[in-house]
Amino acid sequence: MKKQNSVILIGAGNVGFHLGKKLFEEGIIIEQVYSRKITKAKRLSKLINATPTNDFDAISKKGNLYILAIPDSVIGNVAQQLSKVIPPSKLVVHTSGATPSTVLKPYFKNYGIFYPLQTFSIGKAVDFQNIPICVDSNLKKHRIFLEKLGRKISQNVHLINDKERAILHVAAVFVNNFSNNLFTIGEKITEKENLSFDILKPLIQETVDKIIHHSPTKMQTGPAKRGDKNTIDRHLKYLNKNFPEFAMIYKMMTQNINKDI
Ligand SMILES: NC(=O)c1ccc[n+]([C@@H]2O[C@H](COP(=O)([O-])OP(=O)(O)OC[C@H]3O[C@@H](n4cnc5c(N)ncnc54)[C@H](OP(=O)(O)O)[C@@H]3O)[C@@H](O)[C@H]2O)c1
Repeated sequence: MKKQNSVILIGAGNVGFHLGKKLFEEGIIIEQVYSRKITKAKRLSKLINATPTNDFDAISKKGNLYILAIPDSVIGNVAQQLSKVIPPSKLVVHTSGATPSTVLKPYFKNYGIFYPLQTFSIGKAVDFQNIPICVDSNLKKHRIFLEKLGRKISQNVHLINDKERAILHVAAVFVNNFSNNLFTIGEKITEKENLSFDILKPLIQETVDKIIHHSPTKMQTGPAKRGDKNTIDRHLKYLNKNFPEFAMIYKMMTQNINKDI
């Protein structure tokens, strides 16, 4: 990308932070970073040689790609605000798995998606090489442009439409958000009993390692899979006494694994 073909990053949270850093590392010029809190914009800008701003009206009109890495609930409103600041012909994309690209359609002629399908947290480094980058746009030339940009940061770039992306996002919530919440339950139980959560970590690691090369359906083990009602009753007795809020989750998960229990 030439200087005049630079990226304007709107949002310096979990995704904005990691995506901005990686694009910069691969030679993409990030001209400006916008965040409502200037400290957030500055924190990222310093790392990627960008100009920080918290003034929406000061957002540059010169960018050739505007990336909205902001909460789903505000994408539409921010796009509307942005359309009053930059020309309607600019290419504007957002980074969400859940929100359709068409939320940008009322405000911009050229719009699309640049969705990195991974979990991002500031403070935890990520390796972009294999992160699926799901791209889309209303125009073929921009789909090609976004695919090319994606390939600068990852070997795993996909053209995924709104419908497919929304479905992928449902599955992603199960495999990441819900599994992480189940790990949290494990942590709470061990904490309460003064046991180390670390003892469970090799099990967590093996659970993930196994499903990389095998179907998770085939890899299922445990009392529910074996139909071991005595163990399940003992677990439920413990949970009802100590963690009644987790007993319901235990029952639902057990029945989802084995309908006969
Ligand atoms: N985190 C993930 O693992 C992940 C993965 C893939 C995709 N995504 C998607 O990426 C997007 C951003 O997620 P995130 O996790 O990076 O969120 P986040 O960490 O909460 O960061 C959101 C950013 O948007 C700014 N912001 C919040 N409200 C705003 C508003 N009303 N107007 C303008 N800016 C606002 C925030 O900073 P200020 O408060 O300073 O404005 C912050 O810079 C979401 O659409 C999400 O679905 C997230």
